[in-house]
Amino acid sequence: MQKTSSHDRLLIIDFGSQVTQLIARRLRELNVYCEIHPFQTVTDAFLASFAPKAVIFSGGPASVFTEGAPRPPKSVFDLGVPILGICYGQQVMMHCLGGKVERGHGTAEFGRAFVTPKNGALPLLDGWFTDNREQVWMSHGDHVSEIAPGFEVYGTSPNAPFAITADVSRNFYAVQFHPEVHHTPKGAKLYENFVRLAGFSGDWTMGAYREEAIAKIRAQVGDRKVICGLSGGVDSSVAAVLIHEAIGDNLTCVFVDHGLLRLGEAEEVVAMFRDNYNIPLIHADESDLFLGALDGVSDPEVKRKTIGRLFIDVFQKYANQIDGAEFLAQGTLYPDVIESVSFSGGPSVTIKSHHNVGGLPEKMGLKLVEPLRELFKDEVRALGRELGLPPSFIGRHPFPGPGLAIRCPGEITREKLEILRHADAVYIDQIRKHNLYDEIWQAFVAILPVKTVGVMGDGRTYDFACALRAVTSVDGMTADYYPFTHEFLGETATRIINEVKGINRVTYDITSKPPGTIEWE
Ligand code: XMP
Repeated sequence: MQKTSSHDRLLIIDFGSQVTQLIARRLRELNVYCEIHPFQTVTDAFLASFAPKAVIFSGGPASVFTEGAPRPPKSVFDLGVPILGICYGQQVMMHCLGGKVERGHGTAEFGRAFVTPKNGALPLLDGWFTDNREQVWMSHGDHVSEIAPGFEVYGTSPNAPFAITADVSRNFYAVQFHPEVHHTPKGAKLYENFVRLAGFSGDWTMGAYREEAIAKIRAQVGDRKVICGLSGGVDSSVAAVLIHEAIGDNLTCVFVDHGLLRLGEAEEVVAMFRDNYNIPLIHADESDLFLGALDGVSDPEVKRKTIGRLFIDVFQKYANQIDGAEFLAQGTLYPDVIESVSFSGGPSVTIKSHHNVGGLPEKMGLKLVEPLRELFKDEVRALGRELGLPPSFIGRHPFPGPGLAIRCPGEITREKLEILRHADAVYIDQIRKHNLYDEIWQAFVAILPVKTVGVMGDGRTYDFACALRAVTSVDGMTADYYPFTHEFLGETATRIINEVKGINRVTYDITSKPPGTIEWE
């Protein structure tokens, strides 16, 4: 296995929890380098080459009783490094080391619980309990009924007598709850204590990442040429600036205008990269190609797949024009790379096909350069700041690769896109004027495939309805709607209806994620 970092490394063995990525986030916040690997790929040989300084077992949906239940390799317990098991990770640890797990009949526990200390001090719990108890988030069916030899109980909750257990002599820790989620308010402290006990120095900083990433790009690419698909979003922009710093004008950016961009977006991107950064840039206006292929398409997955496929074709076309281009750079992020595994071993269910993850076909003949593959969104922003990109640009709300196509449910027409662009511009202008832009994770307008009757002046109107969307989020994985004042909503609706020809009704989407998603498609 190729080593991806010279830093101390922590291995997270993924047993399929929906929140495994959050463990990685908590650790990165502590400047600890970690990687998530599905349990099936963690073999003895893998462990030996990865050489983790500590290991975490994630939670997961399985039961240790089921045939073929996921397990870590036995050798993990002989590495001599600290191990922390979480939820299913606790159960599997107990199961492997001689404890007992019981089926959850009647004792399943989901949601908030309070843990109280037992049996004296444990370094993992330094500074953790407040007033002799601490709130945690439980989500388990089975539970440990007998701890393994060598273990001691250090915390209990009404339904989890073994909420916190440890074998201090071997540095093995196991908790029944999820310290990585928001609803375990002091969960980060547990991780902090764990990595301190494991001896991590917290040396994984953005400055270090930048230098290493540049060295890695140079080593991968040498003096060959790279093309970079620029979307105008933060991810591909940061990737482009980073790669340009590494290899200079051997990078050419291709900005594909698929006709699904926001008002003035193409001009902004060209000004920023060509004029500001002097990065060679091809502005490929392929809107006819994309909109032609999307004509009559209303199924969201067909839209996404069509756009993804055309992107690849278009890149290939421009790559062929750049003499000697051998690499394609992408702003793929860590959440795009890592998919939690399901118990059956496959990737967890696909909600949407993200077009930049769709797997570039081998036949493309270009090798990939993905310098952000190890980063979360907020880390990409930190890297952007490190590289000197303007704060206004770094703070921009995320914009999806398929662009306005997925904000236009039903069939896409040029007329609807034009209306949507104007409505979106008015809405964002309102948000900026009220100084709310930075408080909101993402805001946009969706144009609805429905016309409604209105009255303006003395006349009847029959125009499109639109929905405003604004959400708060930390990572886009969960989100809540933004609580605008009625005054703001009223003022915005009036402005959109007055200023945007083609819309006569404005609604506000107050769905959280889950059960909704952020985009409409
Ligand atoms: P959803 O709609 O799944 O979106 O709640 C979560 C976040 O991902 C963005 N998104 C995408 N980004 N390509 C991207 O680069 C895509 O195909 C794509 N689809 C959704 C979305 O805007 C939100 O920030």
